Amino acid sequence: MARVVIVSNRVSLPKRGAKAGGLAVALGEALERSGGLWFGWSGEVVDGAVPPPRTTTARGLTTVTVALNRQDYEEYYNGYSNSTLWPLFHYRLGLLEVSRRNTEGYLRVNASFAAALAPLLRPDDIVWVHDYHLIPLGEELRRRGVGNRIGFFLHTPFPVPELLVALPGHRRLVRALTAYDLVGFQTTGDVKAFLGYMVGEGGGEADAQGRVRAYGCRIRAAAFPVGIDTAAFAALAAAMADGPESRRLKASLRGRRLVLGVERLDYSKGLPQRFEAVERLLEAHPDLARQWEFMQIAAPSREDVARYRSLRRALEAAAGRINGRFAEFDWPPVRYINKGVDRATLAGFYRAACVGLVTPLRDGMNLVAKEYVAAQDPDDPGVLVLSRFAGAACELDAALVVNPYDADEVADALADALTMAREERIERWRAMMAVLEANTAATWRDSFLAALAEGYGPAARTNAASVSASVSSSERGIPLGAAGP
Ligand code: UDP
Ligand code: G6P
Repeated sequence: MARVVIVSNRVSLPKRGAKAGGLAVALGEALERSGGLWFGWSGEVVDGAVPPPRTTTARGLTTVTVALNRQDYEEYYNGYSNSTLWPLFHYRLGLLEVSRRNTEGYLRVNASFAAALAPLLRPDDIVWVHDYHLIPLGEELRRRGVGNRIGFFLHTPFPVPELLVALPGHRRLVRALTAYDLVGFQTTGDVKAFLGYMVGEGGGEADAQGRVRAYGCRIRAAAFPVGIDTAAFAALAAAMADGPESRRLKASLRGRRLVLGVERLDYSKGLPQRFEAVERLLEAHPDLARQWEFMQIAAPSREDVARYRSLRRALEAAAGRINGRFAEFDWPPVRYINKGVDRATLAGFYRAACVGLVTPLRDGMNLVAKEYVAAQDPDDPGVLVLSRFAGAACELDAALVVNPYDADEVADALADALTMAREERIERWRAMMAVLEANTAATWRDSFLAALAEGYGPAARTNAASVSASVSSSERGIPLGAAGP
């Protein structure tokens, strides 16, 4: 069997304290049994010369990681990836930052990742590149003569063309995706947005199977909704329900029902709107007062990006304001925890929660929603309140699906969830579990890799040649910020 080489910015390195995030979790689970090579950023930022890549091998998986120097960290990671692409891909044009310097840093790091990775590749390796940080990586590998099958998977949403064209150099960025044999997205909506761009802006052709001809290349695009290791997570939650942290949590609730939110502290997650909905629940449903507590775990994330720091301050203020208005001496309605919690402990917390509150304004998938469902006690499951704008809502339609911008609607859904009869909870939970059992992390990996092996179709495998031909023209080396309208 061919070796699978995964490339992503964030690599899961548990021993070195990897940060929370769906990509590392999903890939960690998907790679656990298949082995292979995982290449990416070590999470280190160095002043001065970057040390050579570090290689570690454990249980069949080799990890090769590289550090970033401070300029690359600022321009590639904080800058173009997280201040340009992240807001744009999450439909937040108002937060979009545009800078040629950051664009150049993004291209530079992609080129240097490709230069470090290319010599490690064997001719029959299958290469699988992940997420918005590394869109041009495939093109950079092709430039270095890599003719292997290369697939790309986007963990975030893909914006509709009307939004994407606001990005200077959007053509150059999207055209870079044509260096891949297969481009995977979380939902069919994302695929539709991508095909819409390729046809409308790229002047290409697309068929119903997601086969696209554009920019002189042929690629396939399809949806592969990322899953979790459902059975393992359910078993972990059952075991952790009696762990010391879960016992302490339950004792502290003194019979009150827990409404739980868990995420990285990120503006895509809709936390201020969620706090407003909780406030609305307190105002509109005094009958439920003292019967529940809302606990929000908000793991610090991307703290060197100003937007993330201002969000942190806003949430601290909101938690204080709500407790200031509604807390009684023995009932603080809001517990706000501004630190990450390890996933095993979280599993026990999910199981202890009667309501999982997952209300992002936009999210590629949202693994927390899936983990919450998998963690429930089958005889007495909790209720998932889920934003319609999370990719997970396409699969988990038996949740209470809400519009996160509508605080009244979310407050009403919370009240329904807190008072829902056991039969209805079980029915909804079973429907969601059936989906999660059918689409796991392993099926996600296998279906993507099978489609990648299949390629465009019978006449495929022209990408290496066509991409290197197209970049050998006058457009070679033109920075994203300088091409396109
Ligand atoms: N997570 C964690 N500890 C935390 C917060 C989150 O381990 O304190 C994990 C969570 O269990 C999930 C992942 O981080 O597996 C978050 O993935 P999701 O897709 O929900 O959102 P992302 O952070 O990728 O945007
Ligand atoms: C999202 C992104 C991932 C990223 C994760 C955590 O899931 O899609 O690519 O790894 O957030 O963010 P971070 O910036 O800490 O890697």
